[in-house]
Amino acid sequence: MDRREFLAGAAALALSPKVHGADAPGRVLRLAPASQALVGAGHPPTEVWTFNGTVPGPELRFRQGETVRIEVDNALDVDTTVHWHGVRLPNAMDGVPHVTQAPIAARGGRFLYEFALPDAGTFWYHPHLASPEQVGRGLYGALIVEERARLPVDRDLAWVLSDWRLDRTAQSVEDFRSFMDSSHGGRIGNTVTVNGAIREALPVRAGERIRLRLINASNARIYGLGFEGHAPVIVALDGHPVRPYPSERVVLGPGMRADLILDCGAAPRTQHRVIDDFYPRRAYELMKMAYSDEPPLRSAFPPVPALADNPFARPELARAERLRIVFGGGMMGAMPNQREHRGQFWTVNGRPVPEHDHRHAPLFTLQRKRSYLLELVNQTSWHHPIHLHGHVFRIVSRNGKPLALEEWGDTVLIDPDSRVEIAFVADNPGDWMLHCHVLEHQTTGMMAVVRVV
Ligand code: C2O
Ligand code: CU
Repeated sequence: MDRREFLAGAAALALSPKVHGADAPGRVLRLAPASQALVGAGHPPTEVWTFNGTVPGPELRFRQGETVRIEVDNALDVDTTVHWHGVRLPNAMDGVPHVTQAPIAARGGRFLYEFALPDAGTFWYHPHLASPEQVGRGLYGALIVEERARLPVDRDLAWVLSDWRLDRTAQSVEDFRSFMDSSHGGRIGNTVTVNGAIREALPVRAGERIRLRLINASNARIYGLGFEGHAPVIVALDGHPVRPYPSERVVLGPGMRADLILDCGAAPRTQHRVIDDFYPRRAYELMKMAYSDEPPLRSAFPPVPALADNPFARPELARAERLRIVFGGGMMGAMPNQREHRGQFWTVNGRPVPEHDHRHAPLFTLQRKRSYLLELVNQTSWHHPIHLHGHVFRIVSRNGKPLALEEWGDTVLIDPDSRVEIAFVADNPGDWMLHCHVLEHQTTGMMAVVRVV
């Protein structure tokens, strides 16, 4: 392939403000309310909570190996923290209130986050306190760590996917943490946005190769994306390289990411739908890919190259210690007794853990540098994207069936009444959260602490 061909790509489409780390030492992320036109023409703007004035917050771009140095300035009326989802960082920088730091106080509290970025990939940031409301009102952004050797593409785009429950005046319905949402599938909205607005179309040029980074920042919605007439190739999941493979439907639970190579092989002036049909009876068109009338940029696409591996320790499966975690509760399941555990609907190994109640002993204490194989058992009638902080795990099997391809991640979606085995090296000392990323589940019992010593 001629590299110049790629550099001559279509003009970049800026969907959200981008900030390159190296250009902005000591930058500040300020949390404050604002209003934003989520729905667009004919509707009033929506009152939202933002990082630096926009939803999503600035797209932070760094190079692998660089150091993040960001001061968070909390201008909200509520306490908060910022968690850097998927990044392997020192425990004190993980942004979990009461566990790794004191909350950043309302109306002027500040906290300096500073950590190196060992892994390249697509990550994101969001508060870890009162998450159903704080994330639900728009506090999140992409954290992109570019590889040392960049994958040659014409455009590198991130789509931060989120959804909102809006009323007729386009304002958030203020029923965060309702019993109904918390005990069922979480707060699923009625309006889906890509980078903070309903998008009609992604303008593309025939022959263009796009790297599309998908981030599911929704509280609870799971996406199953299909690109009609196109065959996107998955090159990374949760930021970590996989052997490239084409996928007709990209399924992303809350918290999860996928990096796709989207080759625009259709004809100029054509349009193709991007469909989300995860919930089959509620399928909808997320947007269109709209081809310009320009002549194709190239007539054939070179093979999709694999990304270089990230430098985390690989577990030794044969010698790994086995542990079992059972997730229970929820509607149609064994919900905790409401007289004893008011407002707690979910359990981890039989016990609900109220949000940030860390008087509980850690669920497990793991030995540093040892390999562990965790069997995660979902004994509920609901999906759960289970996220482990501070580590990267391998997804070993689903319902006893080994995975065909080697797959790594920090969040794994477990189907109802199913089980998944994950394996990892406990190589990062500290107290790490393990929780469901359906935020209404996380805050009503489905959370635990795993200690690495
Ligand atoms: Cu993205 Cu514990 O969170
Ligand atoms: Cu859950």
